[in-house]
Parts: sequence; structure tokens; C-alpha cells
Amino acid sequence: MSAPVVEAKNLKQIYKIKRGLFKEPAQLQAVGGITFSIEPGKTLAVVGESGCGKSTLARMVTLIEKPTEGQLSLDGIDAVNPPSNYAKELRRMVQLVFQNPYGSLNPRKKVGTILEEPLVINTSLSSAERKERVRAMMAKVGLRPEHYNRYPHMFSGGQRQRIAIARALMLSPKLVVADEPVSALDVSIQAQVLNLLADLQQEMGLAYLFISHDLGVVRHIAHDVLVMYLGHAVEHGPKEKIYARPLHPYTQALLSSTPGITGVKRKRIVLKGELPSPLNPPKGCVFSTRCPYVTDRCKVERPQLRELDGRQVACHYAENFLKEQAA
Ligand SMILES: Nc1ncnc2c1ncn2[C@@H]1O[C@H](COP(=O)(O)OP(=O)(O)OP(=O)(O)O)[C@@H](O)[C@H]1O
Ligand SMILES: [Mg+2]
Repeated sequence: MSAPVVEAKNLKQIYKIKRGLFKEPAQLQAVGGITFSIEPGKTLAVVGESGCGKSTLARMVTLIEKPTEGQLSLDGIDAVNPPSNYAKELRRMVQLVFQNPYGSLNPRKKVGTILEEPLVINTSLSSAERKERVRAMMAKVGLRPEHYNRYPHMFSGGQRQRIAIARALMLSPKLVVADEPVSALDVSIQAQVLNLLADLQQEMGLAYLFISHDLGVVRHIAHDVLVMYLGHAVEHGPKEKIYARPLHPYTQALLSSTPGITGVKRKRIVLKGELPSPLNPPKGCVFSTRCPYVTDRCKVERPQLRELDGRQVACHYAENFLKEQAA
């Protein structure tokens, strides 16, 4: 086992929402205490519905937003209150790839210029050296040399995501946070980009925090999976465990609505209703308002994450699901 590239402990993000002149601001807990670590060459997939706090988590891990609470270290260095002189190094170490490469690539700049920019800002390489690195990276992500002088709008969505990935890798980061990187792409193109990400990971020893709302998408790329609901982890562990025997009813529901996942023992659960507002979360279990197995206990007592069958799960009745699925 190598030392983790990233370690997060109990990360929280609480936003203050203004409610007018005479009222105290409301508190919106977007992320309610997330703990994980990722080793080099490994992928943690964070999965959950829209609004469960995935992008907020991504912004904290990429140092765009400071957590309200909790610890975060990158390569062993405190990233919340970094020692002086380390801030720049930390920012280089972690890079973000967004869902929408239309929005994240400057339309007025040529691909070569876009890729060269991080080197101009952060290194003292000569112009010739920078161009050389850009050409090498373009080849690595499957872009052709003649693409160097083209503008982002001249590319398809999949190619554009290759440009965004190349840009993220220009400064040799250790951790790449990918926030729904293939959700805007056609299914056939999705597979190509996922394969590219997997190849680059092997070649460069990259750690990935891969965010998706879709357990089908992350199935092949993930090593570990963290299922998030309303800012909390409800199940977290090795991919094989989670897909073969999901122990949290929410994970079961997500899996049962994912087409194409076969060989998995699972019940069909249809989720009803909406994700509750994080401004007014349920008192007990965060999933209690939508859980088909809810009891009175679930409504008042919040289950903590605990070890069971090689993963962590936050459900009072997880043992029952384990027995049922083992039978
Ligand atoms: N800057 C902010 N100020 C106030 N509330 C915010 C802010 N950013 C996010 N939120 C709220 O925090 C919650 C989590 O949002 P977030 O964008 O992290 O979810 P998500 O899981 O990424 O959703 P999606 O799948 O739609 O991208 C939401 O209720 C959102 O409205
Ligand atoms: Mg998001």
C-alpha cells in the first residue's frame, strides 16, 4: 500500500443563506462530514443524485472552497491551512475536469495556447520546451498535431473533453477531480473517454476522485465507491462489495435503476419523491423520508457509518440486508 495522495476527514461545507434584513441567515449543510482517502493509481467514485453535495465536495478537494470543518491533506500536506510556500504546490497537485467542456475552454484561444497556459504561469520552461510538452500531451490524449492551431468550437464534445483532460494534466498533478466528466457525452463517446482516463491513470499513477450520478458509468473505472445522500456518505467501500451486495437501501435503489448491471443480486426498488431540502433535512436517517423499509427508529435516530461485510454502511438494519442477500 502506498501513502494516500489525498486524505479527507469529516469534511463539511455549510452555506449561510440570507433570509432578509431581520432574520438570522439559514444554514444549508451541503456536505455533512465526508471521510475518504485515495492512493496513487486508484479511483474513488462519488455517486449520488443531483443536489447531494458532489460538486461541493469537489470544490473543497480542489481547494476552490475552504471546508467549514474537517481536515484535508494532499500528499501529507495540510491543504486547509497550508504551511507558507506550499499553497502553489498544492494547487498544482490537484486539478479539476468539469462536466461541460464548452464552458471550461476559452473559445477565443487555440488549443495549443490553452494547453501551454499552465506552463507559462507555473514553470520557467522556454517557449520551445513548452510547445514540445504540449505536443507530447496532445498525442497522449489522442489529439492530432494539426489540432494545435484549432479553436475549441471546431471539436466534438468528446475531443473537447480530451483537451480539458490534457489541460488538467499539463502540470503533472497527483490527483484529478473529475466532476461528471462524461455526463454530457454520447454513450459511445463516454466509453472512449473513460478508457482514456483509465490508460492515463495507469501510465501516470494518477489518483482520481470521479464524480457521477450514475453507478453504471463508474462501474469500470472505480476501485472504491462512496454513495452520497443529502451531504452524507451512506455506503463506502470496495467496488466489488458495493455492486455485488449493496447493503444500504439507497445504494440498492440506485443499482436497481441502473440498466445493464447484471449478475447482481438485488431487489427492484423504485425511489419515490424528491431529495429533501438540505435546509430542512430529516431528523433521523437522512434517507428515512424515502426509504421503503423505514421504521420509527429511523425517523429519530441517525445511523452512523459502521463496518459491515468489508465496507462501511449507515443503516440500522444493514445486517438484515446482508442475511437476505447471502441467502
Ligand atoms: N454556493 C452555494 N451557496 C448556497 N448553497 C449552495 C451553494 N453551492 C451549492 N449549494 C447547495 O448545496 C447542495 C449541494 O449542491 P451540489 O452542487 O454540491 O450538488 P451536486 O451533487 O453536485 O448536484 P448535481 O448532480 O446537480 O451537480 C444543493 O442543495 C445546492 O443548492
Ligand atoms: Mg454537481
